[in-house]
Amino acid sequence: MKLIIAMIQPHKLTDVKKALFDAEIHKMTVTNALGCGQQKGFTETYRGVLYEVNLLKKVRLEIAVNDEFADATIKAIIRGAKTGNIGDGKIMVLDLSECIRIRTGELGKDAIG
Ligand SMILES: Nc1ncnc2c1ncn2[C@@H]1O[C@H](COP(=O)(O)OP(=O)(O)OP(=O)(O)O)[C@@H](O)[C@H]1O
Ligand SMILES: [Mg+2]
Repeated sequence: MKLIIAMIQPHKLTDVKKALFDAEIHKMTVTNALGCGQQKGFTETYRGVLYEVNLLKKVRLEIAVNDEFADATIKAIIRGAKTGNIGDGKIMVLDLSECIRIRTGELGKDAIG
């Protein structure tokens, strides 16, 4: 199992949700977040110096999937989120050791799907 965490631009959430839906991925957690990447939250430098970190509004997606759905999930996020501009976002893929459905006690791929 994989836990896919994506940081995307908030205005791309609708497109990403649609791309995920089209790929038959319907389970997700979405959180408002603050963050910055390699531009430190700025698109320009002041006298050539980036001297401060500026946190920008981002949306964080968390999607837990069985291994065979990881590629399709990643591709769908990219399809929905990519504009080609800085700040398009980042996807992190983590190995997920367990998933438990609280109601039934199911584990692993029975619980995740
Ligand atoms: N190394 C990182 N660790 C944790 N969060 C990160 C990291 N890199 C990016 N993020 C998160 O992802 C968001 C989007 O990052 P962003 O797309 O700006 O990445 P980037 O590396 O600066 O690429 P680009 O040059 O395309 O902008 C950031 O606002 C931050 O929330
Ligand atoms: Mg950036």
